[in-house]
Amino acid sequence: MSKNNLLLRKRGGFDELYTPRYAIEPLKKYIEGLNIDWEYLGKDRFIIWCPFDTEESNYVKVLKEWGYKVIHSHIDDGKDFFEYEPEYYDLVISNPPFSIKTEVLKRLYKLGKPFALLLPLTALEGIARNKMYKEHGISLIVLNKRVSFMKGKGSNYFNSSYFCSGNFIDYEVQIAFEELDDNLIKAEKDQLTHQHYKDLRKENK
Ligand SMILES: C[S@@+](CC[C@H](N)C(=O)[O-])C[C@H]1O[C@@H](n2cnc3c(N)ncnc32)[C@H](O)[C@@H]1O
Repeated sequence: MSKNNLLLRKRGGFDELYTPRYAIEPLKKYIEGLNIDWEYLGKDRFIIWCPFDTEESNYVKVLKEWGYKVIHSHIDDGKDFFEYEPEYYDLVISNPPFSIKTEVLKRLYKLGKPFALLLPLTALEGIARNKMYKEHGISLIVLNKRVSFMKGKGSNYFNSSYFCSGNFIDYEVQIAFEELDDNLIKAEKDQLTHQHYKDLRKENK
């Protein structure tokens, strides 16, 4: 890892937040709605790159469950997003470290593949980002509730939503509003609480 990126990585307190499944669910119909002949291509030949993810990531698990081919990479596996790029991939999906969101967007626009990134809605602001959005376009999938991330800081005080390249949402309107499923939220929260108590019991032994 270059010294520069090491510094970037150490910058933010919101960089180690892991995404729950319910926050990935709204992407399903947008991926299926891409301008692709799925019968001809086959989902298992459509490659989604998750560049901030290990095999433990819910993005990797859920996208595989939906039938796609997933390539994951993470800095801990020696694959720095700013230096590594898979040979073939069709779409980029992830929740990147928030502290380097501008640099991440910049690189994604340069790579030129469709993407959907989970970012705080405040990422709409900012002079450098404004310039990029204006030049390359941006679509938003706005989630109706705040995502309660796993590990790190358990909850947060901001709304996160999907920032997508212009060609990801295949609709006339470039802002879509999506509801998170309350049943999925509850199920995942209960499961996490259960795991939390199990971990505590282990620590106290
Ligand atoms: C916000 S977390 C999200 C993890 C996962 N995408 C998820 O949603 O559960 C971002 C992850 O990217 C990793 N990371 C930081 N800088 C990176 C880089 N330059 N290249 C690849 N991964 C990086 C962090 O260590 C962190 O685990």
